[in-house]
Amino acid sequence: MIIKTFKLRLAIYCFSATLLIFLLLLGIILIQYKEGTISEVDNKLIEEVKKNLLPDFEKNRTVKNAEVIRKRADEYYQIINIGNSFIIVDLNEKGHGLPFNKALLLNSFGGSIEFETIKHNNENFRVLYFPADRENIIRISYPLSSKDEDYQRLQRLFIFSLPFLFFISAGLGWLIAGMAVSPINKMKSAAEKIINEGSEDRINIKLKGEEFRGLIKIFNEIFDRNERLINTQRHFASDLSHEIRSPLTSLRGNIEVALRKKRHVEEYEEILRNSLFDIIRLSKITDNLLFLAKADNNILQLRRQRIDVNDLLKAVVEHFADRIINAELNLVEEYQEALVLNCDRDMLEQAFANLIENAIKYTPSGGTIKIKTWGEKDYIKISINDNGVGIPQEDIPHIFERFYRSKREDSIKRKGSGLGLALTKWIIDSHEGNISVKSVVGVGSEFLIVFPK
Ligand SMILES: Nc1ncnc2c1ncn2[C@@H]1O[C@H](COP(=O)(O)OP(=O)(O)O)[C@@H](O)[C@H]1O
Ligand SMILES: [Mg+2]
Repeated sequence: MIIKTFKLRLAIYCFSATLLIFLLLLGIILIQYKEGTISEVDNKLIEEVKKNLLPDFEKNRTVKNAEVIRKRADEYYQIINIGNSFIIVDLNEKGHGLPFNKALLLNSFGGSIEFETIKHNNENFRVLYFPADRENIIRISYPLSSKDEDYQRLQRLFIFSLPFLFFISAGLGWLIAGMAVSPINKMKSAAEKIINEGSEDRINIKLKGEEFRGLIKIFNEIFDRNERLINTQRHFASDLSHEIRSPLTSLRGNIEVALRKKRHVEEYEEILRNSLFDIIRLSKITDNLLFLAKADNNILQLRRQRIDVNDLLKAVVEHFADRIINAELNLVEEYQEALVLNCDRDMLEQAFANLIENAIKYTPSGGTIKIKTWGEKDYIKISINDNGVGIPQEDIPHIFERFYRSKREDSIKRKGSGLGLALTKWIIDSHEGNISVKSVVGVGSEFLIVFPK
């Protein structure tokens, strides 16, 4: 049978367990009752022998209400006292009334007190073999019929109560299973509601139990992550089209102007130069996107080699030398010697270039860019510092996201795709490094990179 719901399965388990416990209890009660009555009878029999029969037996060598079994050589005789007359029966021949147990008889002749329960003429008897002396054993019996009746009554009572116990167990099982499953159902419907309504709500129900609270937390974290993913995806498409639109519009405008009438060679050259600028911007965006796409798909491999970080930085600075002079910026360089890192040269150059380019881009003329490297016990640290426009506090958590650009006017004025820092962070991360930023609007920004040695 396939049990579909967890509740039903749990209910069946609980039901079986409770029913089993009930049955065990009844069984134990029955056994205890039976043993109790037997030992009660045994005590009564021994008491009877000791108190009434033994003294009598000493006096008369015969007793009332009991049988005396006597051993002569290998033969046993039974002396039965009925009223005032004795009957002596040769047990070897047929025995009287209750059959006798030779093993117990022998034990008893050895001096031990023996009991047995036997069935005779459809009735149970409890029989005691009691050694009176070396040659005589007193045997008395007690009919168990009344006790048996009590026992049977109890048994019948239990059997009648079985259907009730069955229902009680089933009810209990269903109740417990319901209690166990109800928080899960509540969570399920809360989650379903959020999914169906597509709302940004979170599961907000109070449940007793650490496990459920933990589960709700996990659910909500998944919702959060999902929402972030959806938002990023949404933004990605709109940001991308936005970014490639302005160079395309400018290209189109340039070409349309060029075609409107015949022009001088110098004019064509000017238009082509402008167009080239737009095309370079477009290809930069696609290059960066391609890089990030490869990074996402884990198909970028670092070609590591041991390189002095200072050499890398110097090469990048050299590349930007003209732009720094044109932007009328001061450059301060402070390199601590011999900071060798096992890294991918091209990628790190790209990362440093993005940071230095930003520093140039976001620092007004007359400002200063400071590049510093130093080593600590286990780390190599690189700081790229500027006293430019700075980054608003609310933008800082986002600047490493793709396409994120500060919405400030002086940031928008400067051209860019918002991909540079995303790329830089990926590169630093894949070198097991860490990049962080400190910035104050109007004061400047410092990007700090830390690599383990
Ligand atoms: N040195 C800096 N000074 C001020 N703002 C910065 C600096 N570096 C980065 N930013 C801010 O972070 C944003 C993201 O940088 P980035 O990813 O390089 O994109 P882009 O330079 O193409 O705008 C920038 O738009 C800018 O607002
Ligand atoms: Mg940039």
